[in-house]
Amino acid sequence: MNMDHTRWCYELSLPVTEKSNPISRDIDRADAQHMLQILKTCDAEIFTNHHQGIYSSPIIQTMVDVAKKVELMLREPEESLIVLSGCGTSGRIAFLLATSFNEMLTDQQHTQIYSYIIAGGDRALLTSQEAPEDRPLLGARMLDEVCAGKKRVLFMGISCGMSAPFVAGQLDLCLKHLDVFTPVLLGFNPVHMARNEPMQDCSFHFKEVAERMATEQIQGKAFILNPIVGPEAISGSSRMKGGSATKIILEAVLLAGHQAIFREKTISPECLSSWITASERIYENTYSHVDELTSLVQKAGESLQRNGHVYYLGWRTLGIIGMIDASECVPTFGADFGDIRGFINNGFKEMRNKEGDLSSMGPEFVIGQQDFVDTVLPVLNQNDMIVFLFTVKDDLHEMTALANQVKRKTLNLHAVAHDLKTLNIPKRMCDVFETVLKMTWSSSDEEIAVMQKWELSTKCCLNAVSTGAHVLKGKVYMNFMIDLRVTNSKLYRRAVNIFTIRFTGRSKPECERALLRAIYSTDDVSEEMTSADVRTHTQMANRTDRPLL
Ligand code: F6P
Repeated sequence: MNMDHTRWCYELSLPVTEKSNPISRDIDRADAQHMLQILKTCDAEIFTNHHQGIYSSPIIQTMVDVAKKVELMLREPEESLIVLSGCGTSGRIAFLLATSFNEMLTDQQHTQIYSYIIAGGDRALLTSQEAPEDRPLLGARMLDEVCAGKKRVLFMGISCGMSAPFVAGQLDLCLKHLDVFTPVLLGFNPVHMARNEPMQDCSFHFKEVAERMATEQIQGKAFILNPIVGPEAISGSSRMKGGSATKIILEAVLLAGHQAIFREKTISPECLSSWITASERIYENTYSHVDELTSLVQKAGESLQRNGHVYYLGWRTLGIIGMIDASECVPTFGADFGDIRGFINNGFKEMRNKEGDLSSMGPEFVIGQQDFVDTVLPVLNQNDMIVFLFTVKDDLHEMTALANQVKRKTLNLHAVAHDLKTLNIPKRMCDVFETVLKMTWSSSDEEIAVMQKWELSTKCCLNAVSTGAHVLKGKVYMNFMIDLRVTNSKLYRRAVNIFTIRFTGRSKPECERALLRAIYSTDDVSEEMTSADVRTHTQMANRTDRPLL
């Protein structure tokens, strides 16, 4: 059997979310413009109309069913709770949605009913904390604590790869108490491709939980939302399409529930699919700014190549989108936390996270724009790139004043600005920037959830900028991350797989040995090391502060 055939069989055996996308196979050799075409085509797969796609009847119907549960929860808010939970980017999206939708409820003088859980706690909102992802019992315990005293809980467990033990533990808890919980699993693989590796301190694996969910779905007691959106542009990097599709789907479901309560709109397949269509338009509009986007990717790549930095300065939730994008560069590309960094106006006051101000925890947790002025601005130089993220509704005077301060240090200053057709950002404000990616949205786009649309567009831009910049820096080979950290069992398996079939053609044990040599920094891999379990290896990898591939 030749090597190509072996690779082909191997590729077939992988779940969709871990596969190598044929569209992006040569992304490492693309220039910025070509790279954007590749990312655009990969993202368009989110909306492809096929029998397991996001627009397919079973998926839309499940969204309708879940939206009706949201409506029920909103009708009896005192005893109900909607919990959104996940690891890494999935947990960060859970946080963003829970806080934004709680705010919408406050605006309607309604009791807040949303809560979020992220593996690793609030510190994981800003930094990568991959190890807790492996702990199912921790996930269950955190869920149990959040739900204390509630009679009804709608639990949305997000795991793009249908793989995170943390989420599997939570779903298992829900399935054991269906009198209280209605569990929803959101992911982007068919159930038969859910992960079937044994989990820490547990007798079941993710796939088994997903199968139990599927059985309960028949009775309407549990729901699986798992459209197939194609492999990521960078294999396994679920912060990209996975994160965006999570945002699109959950917002559609939650908004439909809100509109049923506050506008007496019937929850129907049409209203759910029209939100998906609105999101599709956002993608098309965003990628239509190809020249400005290409320029941003190119500039960000040059900054990283010269050991400079990329700083996102964002207002309100666009600041959060910036931080989400920046935080995931560390585990994905082996980046330093300072390489791409996000700041938000008003810092933690704007975040509204459960654990409050975390700035005393270290430099990674210093996120206010004033902190940027105090600590970064004095040392800023021409190699550093600054990207402002704002909307016409933000304080444009404050924004211009900060931009002028930055301009005294570097002209490498750019903006992603969202405007409505009717309200224009003054030209003199745009003139401060070298590039302005000015997104305008027609008034027919409706005022409904306009901020959510701006967030999605910004996410799409920043994913392109940070991914493109790291590709230009050489952090990707073909479409594989080659500087990833091996800090949990999923990442360990991914690393072995990349080594094994894809690159070297050597046997798995040989490649695992090579990986252990890197983890333990030794050429002498002992019997004790080879016989230890994956958890021991990832604990060791967590102690070394460098990428291993
Ligand atoms: O293990 C780290 C990570 O891969 C992140 O990159 C990702 O955001 C997170 O896990 C969650 O992955 P999933 O949504 O597939 O559980």
